[in-house]
Amino acid sequence: MIDPAAPTTLVVNGVLRPVAQGPDRSLLFLLRDELGLTGAKPGCGEGECGACTVLLDGTPVRACQVHLSEVSGRAVRTVEGLAADGMLHPVQQAFLEVGAFQCGYCTAGMVMSAVALLEREPDPDDAQVREALDANVCRCCTYPRILRAVHRAAQLAGPPPGDDRPGARTPESLAAAIADERATDEWKPRLPWDLTPAAERDWFDVLPPGLVAVHEPAPSHDAWTTSAGAWLHVGEDGAVIAFTGKVDVGQDNRTGLSILVADALRVPLSAVRLVMGDTDLCPHDEGTFGSRSMPDAGVLLRRAAAGARATLVRLAAARFGVDPGALVASNGAVTDVAGSRTLAYQDLVRGLRIVERIDAVDDALGGEAERLAGRPVGRVTGPAIVTGARRYPSDLAIAGMLHGRVLRPPVPGATLRRVDTSAAAAVPGVTVVHEGGLLGVVAPNPFLAGRALGQIAAEWDRPALPSGDGLVAWLREHPIEAKEGWGGPFHRVIGDPEAALEIAPTYLAATYTTAYIAHVPLETRVALAAWNEDGRVTVWTGTQMPFGVRAALAEELGLPEERVRVITPDTGGGFGGKHASGVAIEAARLARAVGRPVKVRWTRPEEFTEGHLRPAAVIDVRSGADGEAITAWEMRNTNSGMFGLVGPYTVPSQRLDFQPADSPLRQGSYRALAATANHFARESHMDELAAAMGLDPLELRLQHLADERLADVLHAAADRIGWGRAREAGRGVGIACGVEKGARVATAVDVRVGEDRRLVIERIVIAFDCGAIVNPDGLTNQVEGAVVMGLGAALFEAIRFEAGVIGNATFADYRVPRIDDVPPVEVILLDRPEIPPAGAGETPIVAIAPAIANAIFAATGVRLRSLPLVPDGVVPG
Ligand code: FES
Ligand code: FES
Repeated sequence: MIDPAAPTTLVVNGVLRPVAQGPDRSLLFLLRDELGLTGAKPGCGEGECGACTVLLDGTPVRACQVHLSEVSGRAVRTVEGLAADGMLHPVQQAFLEVGAFQCGYCTAGMVMSAVALLEREPDPDDAQVREALDANVCRCCTYPRILRAVHRAAQLAGPPPGDDRPGARTPESLAAAIADERATDEWKPRLPWDLTPAAERDWFDVLPPGLVAVHEPAPSHDAWTTSAGAWLHVGEDGAVIAFTGKVDVGQDNRTGLSILVADALRVPLSAVRLVMGDTDLCPHDEGTFGSRSMPDAGVLLRRAAAGARATLVRLAAARFGVDPGALVASNGAVTDVAGSRTLAYQDLVRGLRIVERIDAVDDALGGEAERLAGRPVGRVTGPAIVTGARRYPSDLAIAGMLHGRVLRPPVPGATLRRVDTSAAAAVPGVTVVHEGGLLGVVAPNPFLAGRALGQIAAEWDRPALPSGDGLVAWLREHPIEAKEGWGGPFHRVIGDPEAALEIAPTYLAATYTTAYIAHVPLETRVALAAWNEDGRVTVWTGTQMPFGVRAALAEELGLPEERVRVITPDTGGGFGGKHASGVAIEAARLARAVGRPVKVRWTRPEEFTEGHLRPAAVIDVRSGADGEAITAWEMRNTNSGMFGLVGPYTVPSQRLDFQPADSPLRQGSYRALAATANHFARESHMDELAAAMGLDPLELRLQHLADERLADVLHAAADRIGWGRAREAGRGVGIACGVEKGARVATAVDVRVGEDRRLVIERIVIAFDCGAIVNPDGLTNQVEGAVVMGLGAALFEAIRFEAGVIGNATFADYRVPRIDDVPPVEVILLDRPEIPPAGAGETPIVAIAPAIANAIFAATGVRLRSLPLVPDGVVPG
């Protein structure tokens, strides 16, 4: 019999390790917190997500569920142990080649599950891959690529091995790519960049020699932008470090923005390093939302880089004694073609300290050069992701750090009536912090903190809240009166909708609803806070709004903003959910209370219950038609929002309303905001109207569209799916479209409903136009991921609640798409080089739900008007 307290040894990646036992000690804790092997990630703590997968004697296990007493004398392999002699393992290589990740938080677990599969089945078929990886969740939903990557790995693993593997990375390039992951903390300005008066922003006392190019356009009344500026530094070593307030939560704006810098400055992509979301170093930014990275930060960074290029060309012209117009900038150097002379950028800036403020950009200076934009480019952080070297907020640790947990109310709005913390305070090593509405515990490790938290006895007064089956009535009966504007009501009337509905020969009315759903980023919210001796606090946290979090921290802590620094490492998923500052405030307050750095990482249940949800929606639509023309349209959204409420169709009489309601559950932004619900209602209703008018739904849409780009994506999706082709009984095709955030999307779905009424999605086609394409591979990845994420919300995702208490706050109970849920997804990108790029993180998600609902109707004649459509997979008969 094994003594769980006895010391033991195990072999980790070939190295013998002594291990001290303990009551709470899991294999995951040992690997991450004691051995520093952070490739295996905490995702759920319940054995349901696979993010912590490692191999135990060659078998994949969930490290969070393995107690150290079970591993004595056994061999553990983690993702860090796969690459050998600087060469990637074939599975890592394949994931890198295919780009089978977005945020990459799931990747180590996926890779290890795939390694185990290929070791027992060298050439698996699709079904075997799906079965082997079905226990691993990728919330970014890159499953189509993961499937391809495993097959590609099977090819790579075949003979010949080693250096002859196609595309294998050299040891040097791999090491360099991973080394680039090191944090930049060497530059310490006196004040944060955005809080320094503009005239004083030269930073020469802290920057190494080189050229600094700064672009801070004056605010314009004509254009709304989230980014206040961009700047970059060209150093004596030729390295380019660019700075933006945007962050990367998995959408890979890091690569897209780096490409724009590389192209404009004419340097290889490998020369560019992008510092994102550090409030001391980066220009101010409202937040990474609304698909604004490319339109806002991209434009500013490109101008800063083009301005830097022009300065370098002028420097070279002075050195060569020629006209700048005679020079060509390319590959990090300026060449005098006529004189056959070249000077590298690092030679041009050596010994200089120049600050160039970029107002106007001379795009012609330096001539044309080969461009990366528009060509497939792999993710710049890919090597670090597949090797486990990438450090997410959850992976950060600093000397002396403690772990905090916070007591939560059972429902929103509950107030603490009575509490007894004596048992928690008696746990050795635990400090209870109870001050100003915050009640938490701090302990040397997260298990102890969790155990102590569980020993706090609390009684709560709860408000009366509804259950899920009473939600529609509750929302209708609890309107919020507010001013129009952001989050407030919205009303628009065109023509005379009442009269037009009254006389319309064809009249239709229907109500559509959507459930609350959760973001479920694979990395839960986390923050690490450390106070300096001078009373300044630094908080590392995964957020989409680092400057907003800084402001909230300053207010909460009673500090001026310059005494707060927020650093945002690339984060394991956001999807519009990581806007709030709660976890950062908790970590900072606990750290201040105990005088030590404190990390707070929300558990999976906390992520469900304390993070906000996508709002539930009740949408009433009435329409009227005469002959083949839609004459009236009335649409009222209760609770979820006005985004996507204004449709693309030309209808002479319309009424559009959004009425906010008092939501019983915490709600907020989610990928594409309310556009998903509003598109579901509008595009479903268009289908219903087409049926009532006896018209083809595609034709009805096209007849009422003035937007040629939208018509083009509709045609593209319809042609590819085979619109109008006869199909067997039980088979149906649906289509839906929309305009959102400046992009156009059309989604077509082919479904089958068998005699058992089970729904099978045979195929999804999505046509997408977001203007000029910067990185087609990254864009395709975003579009695929959005479609698959939307699939979950369309088919089965829903928060269940009783009297305001969420009842499915675990991975086991809240279903998200897994690899076996994913049908073939075909992406058609329409490039519009003449139109500035719009973001692509949100729009591709809006049309999938109505396209499926319309396809189910085409297949069965059953109209489903509530999301999720088929929670149990069965179409009602
Ligand atoms: S399965 Fe271990 S963290 Fe999810
Ligand atoms: S890439 Fe899989 S969870 Fe983000």
